[in-house]
Amino acid sequence: MSAVADSAPFVVEGPLSLRGRIRVPGDKSISHRALMIAALAEGVSRIEGLSDGDDVRRTAAAMAAMGAEVGDDRVVGGSSRLHEPEDVVDLGNSGTGMRLMAGLCAGFPWLTVLTGDGSLRSRPMDRVCAPLRQMGAEVDGRSAGTYPPLVIRPGRLRGIDYSTPVASAQVKSAVLLAGLAAEGETVVRERVATRVHTEELLSLAGADLSVHPVGPGAVVRVRASRLHPFEIRVPADPSQAAFWVVAACLTPGSDVVLEQVYVGPGRAGFLEVLGRMGADISLERRQGNVADIRARHSKLTGTVVGGDEVPGLIDEIPALAVAACFAEGETTFKDAAELRVKETDRIATMGSELAAVGARLEPMADGLVVRGPVPLSGGRVRSHGDHRVAMALAVAGMAGEGRLEVEDWAAVDTSYPGFVSDLATLVG
Ligand code: S3P
Repeated sequence: MSAVADSAPFVVEGPLSLRGRIRVPGDKSISHRALMIAALAEGVSRIEGLSDGDDVRRTAAAMAAMGAEVGDDRVVGGSSRLHEPEDVVDLGNSGTGMRLMAGLCAGFPWLTVLTGDGSLRSRPMDRVCAPLRQMGAEVDGRSAGTYPPLVIRPGRLRGIDYSTPVASAQVKSAVLLAGLAAEGETVVRERVATRVHTEELLSLAGADLSVHPVGPGAVVRVRASRLHPFEIRVPADPSQAAFWVVAACLTPGSDVVLEQVYVGPGRAGFLEVLGRMGADISLERRQGNVADIRARHSKLTGTVVGGDEVPGLIDEIPALAVAACFAEGETTFKDAAELRVKETDRIATMGSELAAVGARLEPMADGLVVRGPVPLSGGRVRSHGDHRVAMALAVAGMAGEGRLEVEDWAAVDTSYPGFVSDLATLVG
């Protein structure tokens, strides 16, 4: 097993046995929000365990460019410090960074221009521009606000009552962040539950926010608020833990513990799916929404993944698709058309790359059907510049037979620069 950074491919020769304990990076979704909300709060917030991926570094740099003092584990924020950024804000590959920042910056009395890499500039932003415009924000982008760069001018915001047409925590969060600077109450109604980190962090910072009811059909209300600084230890990222959980389930002799992972609402759906498939997974040392996840080699059977559970595991479908290749029978992923507008079209990229190493699968408009079990072979596959595709393919290599090379491997730096050293710990 060997792998090198930058443009060199990741190389793995399976099957590998994985054993031991690791702590994957801090949760990416929580890290983005903690940085943005700390920049708004008057004073010193302490944030331990931020994600070390490029996406979160971009958000940290963006908040620094707007005047927050951003250190390794503290942010000094507040309205008296914040100012117009001197340059275009480049958010790299980060859809979460851009969509949340569009909402945040809509409330600032200055011009902000948000851009990103080629992948981000092709991702739909109308889903946030539309509600922000309803609030009175002056937001524009290419193709009438559909694609970045986004240009955000000062506008007078007023609260709206918004029912999200796509089940998206990013859209909900953009509207709530804009609501912090709006006149009157901002209401977001969700038919299907999505991750609740914005609500959790805004509450921690003392925002005038309520959620009632919680879960499916949630109604979130927020009013303009003066935020206070807060302290948080960012739990480990379940979306990164998922790669090791799947790898441990698929590789004989494996027994892995992922320490202190967020397993709260909207994020633990992949554990339920793997449980349905027969995986040997347990939660240990659970305290609130954080637990160690222990995963051992398991015999899996196919399942159907779809409906309202999809938003809670959308980022884990690449890893689950690899699990499905090794499961007995058919696994169907449906109602997941959102996969087509992620960092890549993940139905197309996972479909073509897994097929190249012997998977039997059929892409559909809104998902994939995978038939197993099939022994995946070695060969050469590509991440297409998508961090989650890269890591899912690495798991396919760990579980398959022979030497697998994953090209465009540098994409993993987006969210998990330490993936290879964590693998080295587990094969130790
Ligand atoms: C995220 C929400 C999800 C997820 C993304 C992170 C967030 O996107 O896929 O990786 O932090 O709010 P959508 O809001 O588009 O579903």
